[in-house]
Amino acid sequence: MLLSQRPAQPRPGLLIQCALAAFILLLCYFAIRRPCTAPAPVEAAAAPAPSPLAAAAAAGSLQYVNVTYDPLAHSINASSYPHPKRRAGFKAVNNANAIKYDSYVGDVVSKLPFETVLDAGTGNGQLVRALRARNRAAWGIELSQAVLERDAADLLAAGLVEQGSLTDLPYADSQFDLVFSADVLEHILPDQADDVVRELVRVAKRDLVLSISLKSIHNDELHTLLRPRDWWEALFAEHGAVPNRALVWALQQKDVSFIRDDYNDCRQEGDAEDGGRFEVCTVQQTWLVGAPGQEVRPHRAITPANGELEPWMFAFRKV
Ligand SMILES: *[C@@H]1O[C@H](CO)[C@@H](O)[C@H](O)[C@H]1NC(C)=O
Ligand SMILES: *[C@@H]1O[C@H](CO)[C@@H](O)[C@H](O)[C@H]1NC(C)=O
Repeated sequence: MLLSQRPAQPRPGLLIQCALAAFILLLCYFAIRRPCTAPAPVEAAAAPAPSPLAAAAAAGSLQYVNVTYDPLAHSINASSYPHPKRRAGFKAVNNANAIKYDSYVGDVVSKLPFETVLDAGTGNGQLVRALRARNRAAWGIELSQAVLERDAADLLAAGLVEQGSLTDLPYADSQFDLVFSADVLEHILPDQADDVVRELVRVAKRDLVLSISLKSIHNDELHTLLRPRDWWEALFAEHGAVPNRALVWALQQKDVSFIRDDYNDCRQEGDAEDGGRFEVCTVQQTWLVGAPGQEVRPHRAITPANGELEPWMFAFRKV
C-alpha cells in the first residue's frame, strides 16, 4: 500500500549513467591534481625501524616470556624521557584533611613576602599545591614515600615533592626564602629535635613559619614531642632563628574570653624534666574556618594560661 503512494522513481538506467559520469570526472580530477601535490615528507619516507618491542608485538611473540632477554643490553636513559602528557582539566581529589590548612597558607602568603618555600613534612603535598596556587615556588619533603605515592603522585613525578628526613635535608644552606611546616614537629622523637631544628634553620634564607601542636588530647600515641612555646623558641634561638613576634600574633588566634567553666578535658602536657609542664584544655570553639566538605570539629584545644587556640603558630626570623 505504501509503495503505491510513492512518487515516481527516476529510471535506473539514467542513475547508473550519472554515477559513472561522476566517477570518471573524479578520476580525471585526481589524475590532473596528483602531480601538483607536495612530495611526501622526508620523515615519513625514512620511518625509523620498529623497536624490538614493537617488532615482537607485531610478530605476536610478546605473549611469550623471552628467557634470553637481557635487560642490560636493552638499558635506556630513563631521565631523557619527557613526563607523560597530563589530562586537560585534571584536578587532584581533596579530602577534608587536605584542605584544612588552605586558609592558613593564604594568611601566611598575605602577611609575608617570599618567593621560594619548603614545606617540611609535606604529607599529601596539599600545602605545596596551595602555595603553588598562590604563585609561590613551593617544594615539599616528606618522610613517607608511601604517602607521597598514594596522595601526591603528580607532585612526585613533577619533582615538586620528594622523600627525605628533616634530620638530614638534601638542600644546600639558605635555599628557601621561607621554611614552612604544619603540625609536624610534635611527631618527631625528643632526641631528633636538635637535628631537625638545626636543619630547618640551615636551609631557610630568612623566615620560618610553623604550626606545632602543644597537646595530645585525642592524639596520645602520635604526639611524641610536646613542649611549651618558650622551649621551642629557645631551641630555634640556639640554632640562629629568633621569634618573629609580630607575625606570631598576626597568625595566632587567641581567645581570652573563656572562663574556667568553659574548659573541658583539661590536662597537663609537656615534660617536667625538659621544658616544664603546661595546661591544655578544650573549649567549644570551631576548628578553623569551615571549607566546603570539611569536617568541622566543634572542640578546639586551648592553652588557658594565654588563651591561645590550636593550631599553635610559630614564626622565626633567621639572624
Ligand atoms: C629475546 O631476547 C633476545 C636477547 O635480547 C633477542 O635477541 C630476541 O630477539 C628476543 N626475542 C623476541 C621474540 O623478542
Ligand atoms: C640521560 O638523559 C639526560 C637528559 O636528556 C642527560 O642529561 C644525561 O646526560 C643522560 N645520561 C646519560 C648517561 O646519557
